[in-house]
Amino acid sequence: MARQFFVGGNFKMNPVTRDQKKALIKILNDATVDQNVEVVISPPALYLIPVKDSLRSDFKVAAQNCYVKDSGAFTGEISPRQLVDAGVPYVILGHSERRTLFGETSKLVADKTQAAIAAGLSVILCVGETLEEREAGKTKQVVEAQLTPVVAALKEADWSKVVVAYEPVWAIGTGKVATSAQAQEAHADIRAYLASAVSSAVAEGTRIIYGGSVNAGNCKELGSQKDVDGFLVGGASLKPEFVNIVNAKQA
Ligand code: 13P
Repeated sequence: MARQFFVGGNFKMNPVTRDQKKALIKILNDATVDQNVEVVISPPALYLIPVKDSLRSDFKVAAQNCYVKDSGAFTGEISPRQLVDAGVPYVILGHSERRTLFGETSKLVADKTQAAIAAGLSVILCVGETLEEREAGKTKQVVEAQLTPVVAALKEADWSKVVVAYEPVWAIGTGKVATSAQAQEAHADIRAYLASAVSSAVAEGTRIIYGGSVNAGNCKELGSQKDVDGFLVGGASLKPEFVNIVNAKQA
């Protein structure tokens, strides 16, 4: 079965006012988009419920993080069960900003992924190497090391709830997008790893999306690569051009 193209908009800690948030949602609600694409918008946690309630029904929302426990004394955290109860279907886990700025290890990301899926969420699981790691020829090794604890934590059936986002750290927010060849190579390596570590069915069925300086100008070429099943968009998801990215597969 063909993998459905997936475009996520990661707002990160933007926008800063509710008026700006409303203006962004209006642009999305008014847009004409390719109905073959799964579109998922990820606003800050504070806005998840109002965005879900005001967003067009063919777009979904994602949290940008969650904790591993259902409830309890974990100040500042949100649980997978709370997200499910709020009607939020997706969560982004393991984003490089969580790994580098907030010290999340691959083991914690794997535990969160397992907890999120057990609670009923789908997961956008982010992996990717730094510039130093790429220049040292370690991209494949680094990404596999990030995926290995997730493979250990999940059952084969759980992978139907996972979208893998390959986001090279050096391309995030820098304007330095990976070439389509670099993206294709990394995605093919991830798919080959899933085939050997999980199963060929999981490798074939799992969407692997690219993130890092995707914009209206580069999305078509990236999206034409065999193993690029969509995008996770940061900066450009806050602009009208996000609609062009959603429509990247259209002629
Ligand atoms: P940019 O699109 O701003 O580079 O961010 C990518 C990203 O981190 C999406 O999660």
